[in-house]
Amino acid sequence: MNIIIQISYLVASVLFIIGIKMLGRTKTARKGNIVSSVGMFIAILATVIQVEAISLIDIFICILIGSVIGIIIAIKVQMTKIPEMVALFNGFGGLASLSVAFSDFWFNTQIRGVDVDMITGISVALSILIGGITFTGSLVAFMKLNGSISGRAIVFSGQHLINLILLLLAIAITVFALTDFANPTYIIVLGVIALALGLLVVIPIGGADMPVVISLLNSYSGMAACATGFVLNNNVLIVSGALVGASGIILTQIMCKAMNRSLANVLLGGFGQTSAGGAAAADGPQIVVKEVGVEEAAQIFDSVSSLIIVPGYGMAVAQAQHTIRELSELCEKKGINVRFAIHPVAGRMPGHMNVLLAEANVSYDKLIEMDEINDDFANTDLVFVVGANDVVNPAAKTNPSSPIFGMPVLNVEKAQTVIVSKRSMGKGYAGIENELFGADNCLMLFGDAKQTITKLVGEIKEL
Ligand code: TAP
Repeated sequence: MNIIIQISYLVASVLFIIGIKMLGRTKTARKGNIVSSVGMFIAILATVIQVEAISLIDIFICILIGSVIGIIIAIKVQMTKIPEMVALFNGFGGLASLSVAFSDFWFNTQIRGVDVDMITGISVALSILIGGITFTGSLVAFMKLNGSISGRAIVFSGQHLINLILLLLAIAITVFALTDFANPTYIIVLGVIALALGLLVVIPIGGADMPVVISLLNSYSGMAACATGFVLNNNVLIVSGALVGASGIILTQIMCKAMNRSLANVLLGGFGQTSAGGAAAADGPQIVVKEVGVEEAAQIFDSVSSLIIVPGYGMAVAQAQHTIRELSELCEKKGINVRFAIHPVAGRMPGHMNVLLAEANVSYDKLIEMDEINDDFANTDLVFVVGANDVVNPAAKTNPSSPIFGMPVLNVEKAQTVIVSKRSMGKGYAGIENELFGADNCLMLFGDAKQTITKLVGEIKEL
C-alpha cells in the first residue's frame, strides 16, 4: 500500500511540474491548470486513503463543503478582484500549515509524551513562523486591496528595527524550543510573534504595491507548506510546497525587475510611499499636448497599414477590453496589421493585460511581449496607447532622476504616430509626468477609454 501511495505522490508531483510549465504560456495555460488539478486530485486521494483518525465520510463531507465554497468564489470573483482572492488563499494556506504543524507538535509532545527529533522540531518552528507571517500578512494585504483598511503605507519611526528585533526574538525562541520541546510555551510565543510580524511587515506597504507583496506571500505559503511536509513526513507536500515557494519567488523577482525595484526593497517594506512621494520629485516643465477628436482619430486609423495597441491599467479600469477587440477586428478587416504590445507589469497584477484580452477573445498570437516587439515600434505607422502611462514613459530611459529610471519601457515614441486614450493628464502609478504626451508625434484622445473607443469604432465604421 505504501508503495502505491508513494508512486501516486510521485505522479502528482510530476503533474504539478508539467502543469506549472504549461501555465508559463498563454496558449497552454488552461490545459496546465487542468493537469495540475488532476495532480492535486491524485495527491488528495492518496492522502485520504491513509487517514485513520477520522472516517472517510467525514473527510468527504469536508471536501464537499470546501469544494462548493471554492466553486462559488471562482465563479463569482471579478477579474480585477483576483489579487484579493489570491491573498485570502495564501493566508489560509499559511494558517493551515501553522495549524497542522502545531497540532502535530501538540499531539506528540503533550498527548503522546514523546520527544520530537531536531529536524521535525526545526520544521515545526519554520511552519509556525512562516505560516503565521503569511496568515496575518495576507489578511492585511486583502484588507488593503478591498478597502476595508486604508491602502496607504502606514509608517512609523523604528518600524524596521522593531521587525528586526521580532525576527531575532523568533530565532532565539526557536533555539530555546529546540532544547526543551516538552515545554509548549516557546512554540506558542513563536506563533504570536509570527502573527505580529506578518501584520507589521505588510502595513508599511502601499495598496498599489500589494501584487508584489501577494506574490511574495504566495511564496511564503509554499515554504510553510514545505516545512509542514517535513513535519508530517509527506513527500507530496514537500514537493508542492517547494514548487509554490520557488515559483512565487521567481514571479516576485520578475515583477521587481520589470518595475526596477530590488527584492531587498520589497522585503524591507515601506516602498509603497514612493508612489505618492515620487510625484513632486520628478515633476518637470509643463507639458504642452495636442488633442485629437474621435473623428480625426478615426481618419488616422483608416489611413495606416500597421497598428500596435498598448493596453495599460486604464483599460482595466474602463473595462475597455471588449471594445478594443472590436476595434482591432475592424482594423484587421481594413487590411491593417494589428498587434498588442504587452509590458510585463502593465496593469496591477501579473498577466493582467493578457487575462483581460483573453477574456475578450483577442487571439493569443496577437499578444506580443515587450522584448519581442520593442524593436518594431520604429517601423509602425500608429501606436494606440489605451490607459497606459508608466510603461510607455521615455523618462525611464532618459531621465536618471526619475523614480522609474532603469525600468524597461515600451518604445512607443519611435512609431510614426502615437494616439493616447486617457481621461485627463492624470498621472500613473509612479505619480510622475510623462513627456511622451507632449512629443511631436503624440496626440491625446481624452475621455474614458471604453466610451471613447466605442465612439471611435462607430466613426471608423462610417468611413
Ligand atoms: P499607470 O501608469 O498606472 O497609468 C494608468 C493610466 O490609466 C493613468 O494615467 C490614468 O490616466 C489612465 N486611466 C485610468 N482610468 C482610465 C479610464 N477609465 N479610461 C482611460 N484611461 C484611464 O498604468 P500602466 O502604464 O499600466 O503601468 C502600470 C504601473 O503599475 C507600473 O508603474 C507598474 O510598475 C505598476 N505595478 C504593476 C504591477 C503588475 S504586476 N502589473 C504590480 C504593482 C505595480 P487618467 O487618470 O488621466 O485617465
